Amino acid sequence: MTAFSGAVTLDGPSGTGKSSVARAVALELGAAYLDTGAMYRAATVAVLDAGVDLDDADGITRAVTEAVIGIGTDAATEQVTVDDVDVTDRIRGSEVTRAVSPVSAVPAVRRLLVDAQRSLVGDAVAVVVEGRDIGTVVLPDATLKVYLTAEPEARAERRAAQLGVTDPAKIAAIAADLRRRDTYDSTRTDSPLRPATDAVTVDSTHWERHQTIAAIVGLARERANT
Ligand code: DC
Repeated sequence: MTAFSGAVTLDGPSGTGKSSVARAVALELGAAYLDTGAMYRAATVAVLDAGVDLDDADGITRAVTEAVIGIGTDAATEQVTVDDVDVTDRIRGSEVTRAVSPVSAVPAVRRLLVDAQRSLVGDAVAVVVEGRDIGTVVLPDATLKVYLTAEPEARAERRAAQLGVTDPAKIAAIAADLRRRDTYDSTRTDSPLRPATDAVTVDSTHWERHQTIAAIVGLARERANT
């Protein structure tokens, strides 16, 4: 089989298992991988550490501009740094998760990170880039654009399984939180979450992870060969 070359974008709401799917797709395609959500999370660490109020767009912009965000593009390992401090685990914590939506809604922050994303992708021969606006804004000429989605209840079940939560009330609360984040991300004025007009929508509600991965890898190879 010929090696894959090109760019695959993977956008969609929180909790679809998008990151783990994107990483696996990148590994199968022998491609580099960029998790742009991790970059917004790292920017949020810089904002929190600067003690900036989340309503203060100028303060947020200043903190993110001054921070040096480092992110690896190897699909097999995850490493994120802010000012040379490893924040790979911290960016997944609840403090950062709660604050990341308002930080990522600031237009100047988006401009900075979109520029950084484009230069990280550079002229990589093969790359999988995951986020919310990759097919619409960051890489509008990508080889394949996927919009990965699933019903909020299915996403909540998956998140609960990861966290070891079985209480139905807690699962319902996770679904409510996912709906709240979907609404926030899809109604912000700058780069709202929405499928690119030329994206393929993959609904994984009734699929196992391996089926989703196989479907996207198949689409990518098909596109690259046409
Ligand atoms: O995919 P994630 O949960 O790690 O993303 C964290 C936050 O960053 C989420 O609120 C959406 C935002 N985000 C964004 O606005 N644009 C991107 N390209 C990636 C993530």
